[in-house]
Amino acid sequence: MKKILVALFSVSALIMGVAQAEFNDPGGVGGLNSLRGDTRLEETRPADSFKHTPKDQVVETDYVYQPPLIPHQIRNYEVSLNANKCLSCHSWKNAKDSGATKISVTHFMNREDAVLADVSPRRYFCLQCHVTQVDAKPLINNNFERVDSLRDE
Ligand code: HEC
Ligand code: HEC
Repeated sequence: MKKILVALFSVSALIMGVAQAEFNDPGGVGGLNSLRGDTRLEETRPADSFKHTPKDQVVETDYVYQPPLIPHQIRNYEVSLNANKCLSCHSWKNAKDSGATKISVTHFMNREDAVLADVSPRRYFCLQCHVTQVDAKPLINNNFERVDSLRDE
């Protein structure tokens, strides 16, 4: 009986200890870091510097229907109710002069698959799906492989 009590006591002491550590150091238990690094929630850390955006399409697509990454800088490109800077180069009308890839037909389709005369409202906010590629260090290693049908070797 005494042994059981001692065992119970030490287990609960251990749990209390972990709970207390979690309370003192939120997110610190287990040594896990989030995107914030090891900055505590109450603190504001200095922003990261801008990442370099490689110009060539170095990051290839991994699966069919993946939105291609943006291989250029998009700082100060306005996409709002009044203006869409992306379309000033990527629309079918302007693509030839700007040398940019035309948006594909899918971008004219509404959710009933009807093809509209202009960009579908659901494709208007380009950055919902397209992001710039950067040569950032992966946060964690992974062994993801592209689907077979897209592998060129
Ligand atoms: C000044 C013209 C210009 C503007 C503005 C522009 N782009 Fe581009 N974009 C290009 C050109 C040119 C390319 C072809 C690749 C290259 O040489 O950089 C390109 C490539 C791309 C690609 C890759 C296409 C592919 O074939 O894989 C995507 C995606 C893209 N842009 C998205 C955007 C988005 C989203 C915006 C707005 C935030 C935008 N672009 C604004 C000129 C522009
Ligand atoms: C709902 C997600 C979504 C939005 C919003 C969206 N795209 Fe795309 N985009 C895609 C996907 C998925 C593809 C690849 C498959 C395809 O062509 O439909 C693509 C392909 C492209 C391509 C390459 C076309 C080609 O022929 O290789 C360009 C350029 C592009 N998008 C530009 C834009 C621009 C500019 C906008 C904003 C006006 C935009 N996209 C909005 C998902 C999106």
